[in-house]
Order: sequence, then C-alpha cells, then structure tokens
Amino acid sequence: MTSNGAKMNKDNTVVVAGAGLMGTGIAHAFAVAGYATTLVDIDQAALTRAQTGIGKILDDGVRLGKLAEDVAAASKQRLSTATDIAEAARGAALLIETVLEKLAVKLAVIKAAEPVLAAGAIVATNTSALSVTEIAREATDASRVVGMHFFNPVHKMKLVEIVRGLATSDETVAETRAYCEAIAKTSIIVNEAPGLTTSRMSAMAGNEAMYMLMEGTATAEDIDTAHRLGFNHPLGPLELGDVTGWDTRLSVLRYLHQTLGEKFRPCPLIVKMVAAGRYGRKTGAGVYEYRDGQKVPNSGLKAGVL
Ligand SMILES: NC(=O)c1ccc[n+]([C@@H]2O[C@H](COP(=O)([O-])OP(=O)(O)OC[C@H]3O[C@@H](n4cnc5c(N)ncnc54)[C@H](O)[C@@H]3O)[C@@H](O)[C@H]2O)c1
Repeated sequence: MTSNGAKMNKDNTVVVAGAGLMGTGIAHAFAVAGYATTLVDIDQAALTRAQTGIGKILDDGVRLGKLAEDVAAASKQRLSTATDIAEAARGAALLIETVLEKLAVKLAVIKAAEPVLAAGAIVATNTSALSVTEIAREATDASRVVGMHFFNPVHKMKLVEIVRGLATSDETVAETRAYCEAIAKTSIIVNEAPGLTTSRMSAMAGNEAMYMLMEGTATAEDIDTAHRLGFNHPLGPLELGDVTGWDTRLSVLRYLHQTLGEKFRPCPLIVKMVAAGRYGRKTGAGVYEYRDGQKVPNSGLKAGVL
C-alpha cells in the first residue's frame, strides 16, 4: 500500500468542524464514501439541523433510486456529532474546518484540534477567500495545511479547488487529491491567489455583464440568454449575481480590485444597486425583481434607472 493509501484508510476518522451549510454537505460526502465522520459545532441546534439535513439527502437518494437502502443506513451509522473539538479531533486523519469566514475563529479551531490529530494528519480549510498561508500560521506543521474549497450544494457540485499555501507540501496536495477522488469529487490545484480560479472568473464575468447593462449593449434578459445558450451556462451572470447577492459580489470585487488591480474595479451600477438595497433574490430585487421567490418575467433593470 502506498503512503497515500495508508492515510486514506477508511477506518480513519474525518472531522468536519462547523455544521453550517457547507459542513453539512462535506460531512455527508465523507460519510457516504465510507469514512467514519464526526461533525463538530459549538451550536447543538446546528448539529441537529445538519443531521436532519444529511438524513434527508440520504433518504431522497434512496427514494430516487440513486442509493441503496443499506448504504444510506450505514452512512447514517458512520456519522456522529460533537461539541468539543479537542475531544472529537483526537486521532483523526483529516480535519476540515468550515466554520465562519473569520480568521480568528478558524485559527482557534486549528489551534485546539491540531495537537490531538493523528501523526501526519491533514488540516484542510474550506475558506472562500482567506489566505491558507495565514491560516497555517497557528499550525505546528504548516506543510500539512491545505485549502479544500467545496461548492454549494456539496452533494451536487463536483468541484473541489485544492489550494496550496506557501508551505503546503507536495505530499499533502497528493493526499488531499486522493481524498477528493474517494468522495467522488474532481479536484483542481490552485496556488494561493485572491479569488482562486472560480470566484475570480465569476466576479469578472458578473462585473463585465453589469458594464454591458450600464452601457446599454443589451437588455439584462438578453445578456443572460447569451450566456445560457451561447456558453451552455446554467445561469447567466446577472441571474447568478442575484443568487449570490450583489452585496457579497461587491465585497469580493473590492478585495480583488485591491489585490489584483484595475481590471477588477467594481462597475458603478453594482455600487448604485447595493446603495439602493437591491442585493438580489434575498431582498426581493436585484437586476431582476422577485415575487414569492420567483423571478418576475421581463423585470430586468433598465440601465440608468437607479
Ligand atoms: N456558503 C457557500 O456557498 C460557501 C462555499 C464555499 C466555501 N464556503 C466557506 O465555508 C465556510 C462555512 O460557510 P457556511 O456557509 O457553511 O457558514 P454557516 O454560517 O452556514 O456555518 C458556519 C458554522 O460554524 C459554526 N461555528 C462557529 N464557530 C465555531 C467553532 N469555534 N467551532 C465549531 N463550529 C463553529 C457555526 O455555529 C455555524 O454552524 C466559510 O469559511 C465560507 O467562506 C462557503
């Protein structure tokens, strides 16, 4: 057995810290792939919600004929929950932290868990934008710290961006890749950079689409249709921005503008929309308007209206 094989032993425990939206999906992925998985959160209610959520994904899988009943039952058996990270992480081969996007919280979790993990364990972070190099700061062995950037909803999205920090070793990257394969995800490797590959491209496309709208190149509906039918994207860039939220989009663009330069300067129409509270679906209006959660046909923003 290779050294990767030894680390990948499914008898090893995987610990997922943070039982929110992402932690729920990540824990499901490991449990269904055969790993003994412990989901940890400081909030018992979040753990209960996560367990219910995972149960529902598994039950839906059985109902739709995608998962055998005994596999679903065994997956539930392999999943446990805990509130004490220092206790739950003892002897685990892989820690994935997916707590709040706050450096101090992530550092505290790693500081508490790393000393009790199995020797040579991997410490992975699901951060969207923070620096893996900086997150590795509190670890005694920074070569074992790596980014594993999952996508929502985890059980449907196939991609994991593996992020290599300054000190991440080749061995750690290779073992992380093997874990991704074991949970049926396709991984790509990114050297730590603002916005990785996905957020950076998505921010650029959304910004450019807003410039086109502002300049009157085409209507919002036509810009989105062009992307759906011309590029086979499931959503156009303006619809996608409404789902993500233009407030979040603007924060990302400001960060990319600051770190990567002029080409990421936020389009003035995004700044105006956010000032007007038109964040997207969550506020009932963004580029489009929403009624009862449904997009109102032909409601696309007219350039210069705001
Ligand atoms: N939401 C997305 O689409 C998405 C996609 C990729 C990556 N991410 C990243 O994943 C991480 C989690 O995002 P989310 O959307 O699941 O957040 P979330 O708010 O749904 O969940 C975060 C959970 O962390 C828990 N938590 C806070 N402090 C903790 C601690 N000290 N120990 C254990 N648990 C603690 C909270 O109680 C909460 O349940 C963030 O870093 C985020 O940037 C999010």
